[in-house]
Order: sequence, then C-alpha cells, then structure tokens
Amino acid sequence: MNYPSQVRIIDVGPRDGLQNEKQPVPAAVKVELVQRLQEAGLKEIEVTSFVSPKWVPQMADNAEVMAGIERRADVRYSVLTPNLKGFEAAVATRPDEIVVFGAASEAFSQKNINCSIAESIERFAPVVEAALAAGIAVRGAMSCTVGCPYEGDIAPQQVAYLAGLMKGIGVQRVDVADTIGVGTPLAVRRAIEAALTHYDIDHVSGHFHDTYGQALSNTLAAVSMGVWNFQSSVSGLGGCPYAKGAMGNVATEDVVFMLNGMGIDTGIALDKLIDAGQFISEHLGRPNGSRVARAVLAKRTG
Ligand code: HMG
Ligand code: MG
Repeated sequence: MNYPSQVRIIDVGPRDGLQNEKQPVPAAVKVELVQRLQEAGLKEIEVTSFVSPKWVPQMADNAEVMAGIERRADVRYSVLTPNLKGFEAAVATRPDEIVVFGAASEAFSQKNINCSIAESIERFAPVVEAALAAGIAVRGAMSCTVGCPYEGDIAPQQVAYLAGLMKGIGVQRVDVADTIGVGTPLAVRRAIEAALTHYDIDHVSGHFHDTYGQALSNTLAAVSMGVWNFQSSVSGLGGCPYAKGAMGNVATEDVVFMLNGMGIDTGIALDKLIDAGQFISEHLGRPNGSRVARAVLAKRTG
C-alpha cells in the first residue's frame, strides 16, 4: 500500500452540507460554522456557492457569509462559480479558490447546471481564465464519476473525458465525486485512475457521499492509491438538490478518526471538530450524522 503520510481535508459542510437544507439557515450560523471549522484545524473550507438563488435558495446569502467570516492567512476559502455571472459576484468577496463544477454524466449536467458537458466547459473556460489572471486558484468538481441518478453506471472513460476537458481549460486540480454515493471501492478506484490520466496524484481529490454507507470504504480505497486530498462534511451534512435521495458527504469526523488510527496526519483536532458538528446538528435540530461524533459524545456524557 502506498499510504500518504498526511491528508488535506476540505470541509464542504457550509456549502455541500447546507445547500440542500429546506429550513433557512441564518448567515450568522454559517459564519460560526466556518469559524469553528478553522478553530478545529481545517485549512480548507468550501464556504458557499455563487449560483442562481432560484435554483439553490439556501446559498443566496453567499456574499454575506463571505463578508462575515474571519479570514486566516493559512486557510483557503473556496466557493462554487458555475459561470461568469457567479464568478463576478464571487470575486468581489475575495475567495482563495473558485470551483467550476461539471459532470461525467450528460443527464446530470443538464439537471444540475442546465447545459451539456461540452457547453459547461465553454462556460467554465472564461471563468477559469479570469480566476487565474486574478491570482485565484481553480478547482474542478466532477460529479457522477461512478453513478448517475438518471443514467446509472458511469464508465471510467467518461471521467477521463471530463478530466481532459477540465485540464484543457486550465483547471488546476479536480475532485472525483460520487454524488449519489453508489460507488464501491473498485469502481471508485477506476474513476480515480481515469482522472489520473490527466492529473497527477497531488491534484486529484476524493469527494464521496455516503448514501449507501460506502463513503469511508471508498476513502480508504483512494488513500491506498496515494490520494491525499479529500472533501467531507462535518457531521455528514448534506445532499445535492439535483440528486434526489443523495445523502451527505462522508463525515469529516469519521475520516479524521480513521486517518488518526492509520497514523496519517490531518492537522485536525477531533474534539473541536466534534464540537463544530454538534453545533450545526443542534442548530438544524437533527442527530449528528457522524458515527465517530456520536460515539465520542456518548462517552463524554456517560
Ligand atoms: P440557467 O437558467 O441556464 O442560466 O442556469 P441563465 O444564464 O439562463 O440565467 C437564468 C437566470 O439565472 C437569470 O436570472 C440569471 O441572471 C440568473 P433572471 O433573468 O431569470 O432573473 N443567474 C444567476 N444568478 C446568480 N448567480 C449566478 C447566475 N447565473 C445565472 N451564477 C445555472 C444556469 C448554472 C445558473 C443554474 O443551473 C444553477 O444555478 N444551478 C445550480 C447548480 C448547483 O448549485 N448545484 C449544486 C452544487 S453542485 C454539487 O453539489 C455537486 C458537488 O458537491 C460534487 C458532487 O457531489 O458531485 C460539487
Ligand atoms: Mg457533493
């Protein structure tokens, strides 16, 4: 096995986690969540998205949240930008990184961003160019890299195709996302191998949703390939509005616990992270979605 000695986690809870919430979550709560995540040692946080508020009302407070967070020089704050309109609104809020998001599935591309894969790349190209010119880093999320709610299984060739298009327009690193959480370790491995035909191991990350309870196994499969960048959500928050029934990302607490046990450094203080997860779970009025958090909390009160 080719385990990395350290892993970098992007907590996507404030964005991927909360985007699907039906109840309004005040900007102040989102800001406090970001604050707690950085206090727990997260060095990358996906804060919000600059998408249409008609499509994703929960992210309509994007500028307010970005203005409210207390910036730290050693933390990278990223935001989603699907087009130039989103980028222009985002750039005023000084993100460190923008994320363009495409799909390995045509049907999902249409449902999520209302255009084909090829059209999405045409829209992303000027966004990427403008971001790089402004000194802003660029990440590319690749949805449905193993399965799609509309098309079923996705072939690794479709992942390689999308990764190649992303590379062609200057996207610096890519996320291999299992949007609906149907992936199992070997399928995820093949999707990552497809991404690795265009990006090196330092520029490919894993983004696994836990709908079928496979996300931690898939994380281990990716770690054993040497992947050392991941996205996860504190307390397992989340889901995608255009992937019905999809659950949250793998819980950051569960990933950190597993990596701690393997002697892989994340720089994250698990206890503080659990407090952050408990803060948002209590605010949302729902049980904490992290198994590790539940176990630790039971011990604390026991
Ligand atoms: P469209 O309707 O094709 O866009 O939507 P349009 O250019 O025709 O514009 C239509 C209206 O939207 C206009 O307003 C625009 O001004 C407005 P109107 O004239 O009707 O009042 N508009 C915008 N407003 C604010 N910000 C913008 C923006 N762009 C247009 N950036 C669009 C195209 C992409 C905007 C739309 O489909 C959209 O917002 N989709 C939301 C997609 C989304 O946020 N999905 C969830 C995130 S992706 C995800 O969760 C997956 C990920 O986690 C990885 C994984 O797990 O797979 C990343
Ligand atoms: Mg996601």
